[in-house]
Amino acid sequence: KRRIAVMTSGGDAPGMNGAVRAVVRMAIAQGCEAFCIYEGYEGLVQGGDMIKRTEWEDVRGYLSEGGTLIGTARCASFRERPGRMKAAKNMVIAGIDALIVCGGDGSLTGADTFRKEWPGLLEELVSKQELTAEAIKPFKYLNIVGLVGSIDNDMSMTDATIGCYSSLHRICNSVDSINDTAQSHQRAFIVEVMGRHCGWLALMAGISTGADFLFIPEQPPEKDWKKEMCSIIHEHRKRGKRVTIVIVAEGAQDQELNKITPDEIKDLLSNDLKLDTRVTTLGHVQRGGAPCAYDRMLSTLQGAEAVKAVLEAQPDTPSPIISIIENKIIRKPLLEAVELTNEVAVAIKARNFDKAMNLRDAE
Ligand code: F6P
Repeated sequence: KRRIAVMTSGGDAPGMNGAVRAVVRMAIAQGCEAFCIYEGYEGLVQGGDMIKRTEWEDVRGYLSEGGTLIGTARCASFRERPGRMKAAKNMVIAGIDALIVCGGDGSLTGADTFRKEWPGLLEELVSKQELTAEAIKPFKYLNIVGLVGSIDNDMSMTDATIGCYSSLHRICNSVDSINDTAQSHQRAFIVEVMGRHCGWLALMAGISTGADFLFIPEQPPEKDWKKEMCSIIHEHRKRGKRVTIVIVAEGAQDQELNKITPDEIKDLLSNDLKLDTRVTTLGHVQRGGAPCAYDRMLSTLQGAEAVKAVLEAQPDTPSPIISIIENKIIRKPLLEAVELTNEVAVAIKARNFDKAMNLRDAE
């Protein structure tokens, strides 16, 4: 009987619970034993009752819950080899040789490093007499499968990450609320949204709410953006618009790669356009809350596919991520997806913004 574990790692995202539920139930349906690892890699390093056998009923109600019920952490010790050694030992003790990780690119890269080191880690554990040669015999290979969970939608080779549409919904609802109060007072609002180095949330929120102007890291505004923005907003006001909404990605920057801050924009609108302006930073409100229908569906289909990927893996199969491309759930090589994702950051740093946008588009 295969023993398959699932964990969530990095920043939580709506839909992670749906992914855990799907993995657990699909594993059981396929005749395997399912395990949850609590508190992300932290739980793997600590072992003991942080690794729990999980039954069908244990994940009842998970589908509609926000956050991650099995916990997550940004774990420093797993980034070092001694931490991964402890994790390997705990997995052998629990009899687990397949790990499905739901997290962002950093968490998934960490998992693949673990897979590569696995045979070496086990040999070292034997040589240190922490495990017997007999004990490691059934654990020749470690299967890793990645589920991309993040509100940022910043991973290449998949159209959507688990959580991004729920977050987008929350942002839209928040901007709608802001709109009500803004139009009452004829105010301007600068709304800062998350996304780390990725502008997807800001761009889609801008489109979905009809914002007056927006800033994203991949395509910084023209050099004279201050003039351009003020003239566009002035024009909108002249045509009778009672509100102004500017959406700023938290990673927004100008062409010289200097951060563009909401306060800077506020000063412009207050001083140059004489608009009564407020700043709203949505913060973690946009990360919590119930997953939208799309994320429930995505996490369920992808969680089931992840278990299939484990069961079909050959020793030399590279670790996959489970993607969605043009509405089809498919597997893509994890390391290639991470490399392509990193290329966007490299292009932005080199101020090759066309390339950055093309890379995001090509996703
Ligand atoms: O990656 C998800 C995310 O919410 C980003 O959008 C944001 O930059 C970051 O995590 C915030 O991290 P923390 O919750 O650790 O402050």
